[in-house]
Amino acid sequence: MNPIVPKDIEKYARTHCGKPSVLRDEIEAYTQQHCALPQMMVGHLQGNLLAMLVKLTDAHRVLEIGLFTGYSAVAMAEALPEEGELVSCEIDPKHAKIAQGFIDKCPQRNKITIKLGPAIESLKSLNGPFDMIFIDADKESYGDYYEVALGLLRPGGLMVADNVLWSGAVLHPQQKSDHALVNFNIRVLEDHRVEQVMLTVRDGILLIRKK
Ligand SMILES: C[S@@+](CC[C@H](N)C(=O)[O-])C[C@H]1O[C@@H](n2cnc3c(N)ncnc32)[C@H](O)[C@@H]1O
Repeated sequence: MNPIVPKDIEKYARTHCGKPSVLRDEIEAYTQQHCALPQMMVGHLQGNLLAMLVKLTDAHRVLEIGLFTGYSAVAMAEALPEEGELVSCEIDPKHAKIAQGFIDKCPQRNKITIKLGPAIESLKSLNGPFDMIFIDADKESYGDYYEVALGLLRPGGLMVADNVLWSGAVLHPQQKSDHALVNFNIRVLEDHRVEQVMLTVRDGILLIRKK
């Protein structure tokens, strides 16, 4: 991921966000040291944004598509109320195992359930409504996830799609994933069932509110 925000600005913004929990710092350090593609993890700034969105929407049920090592799941679970629930979909058993290890240390562990397998299958097995849905898995499937997820989202609920600027590749799409994100962004823009705003935070974040 090539940063679209200048590094020093990104750092300044990060240092003016509230501190993450000790567990989030631990997940971040482990992921940076031991995992391939650690930049897949949302990290401090975006983790705080997701936690803020959970609180602002008064979400009780959150669905995540793309768990990785558990950073965003823990950030959102920490922001949920006592009786809150977070379901996270992950296809890679190695990622799910690492994440579960961290979740087991989390005071909010009882709120978090991992659905192992292809996300599209897991989504079809779930019952809505969810108050907030975070899409952050394979980019080629965003369109499919969007349709099913919209059916699981409550009216007035919030969907958050990550990497929608894809290091700027949406401006000159070449790869399959570039085209998938271009098509996804157009699809959401033209969908009368939702309203949306695109943020130039990190790799681009699309906030989608179901009417
Ligand atoms: C960008 S990472 C998620 C990062 C995570 N939200 C975080 O902040 O740490 C994407 C994850 O989606 C998973 N993934 C990819 N394709 C998937 C699929 N078809 N179904 C479920 N998970 C998938 C990958 O294994 C990877 O762990």
